[in-house]
Amino acid sequence: NKEFTLKVTGHKQEFLVPKDKSIIQVLKENNIFVPMSCENGVCGTCKCKVKSGEVEHKDLVLNEREHFEKKLFTPCVTRAKTDVLEISL
Ligand code: FES
Repeated sequence: NKEFTLKVTGHKQEFLVPKDKSIIQVLKENNIFVPMSCENGVCGTCKCKVKSGEVEHKDLVLNEREHFEKKLFTPCVTRAKTDVLEISL
């Protein structure tokens, strides 16, 4: 895991996601709440969209095609491959 900068469409602030925290945790600490349930990449409740940058999928819920397209991802487990990731909720 590496740290990266997270941008959220519609929010001016940028967030630093450290090595030991998930995207969903960082958002929650900043009062941005994404619906979630399992926090383990299995339920799909937290699905968000990738706007720019690239993700490294770590979930077990999206199908192969969704993984390939890299438009959706699960912020409870999946992290950025790029230094900056922009998402929309
Ligand atoms: Fe279940 Fe993210 S909360 S996949």
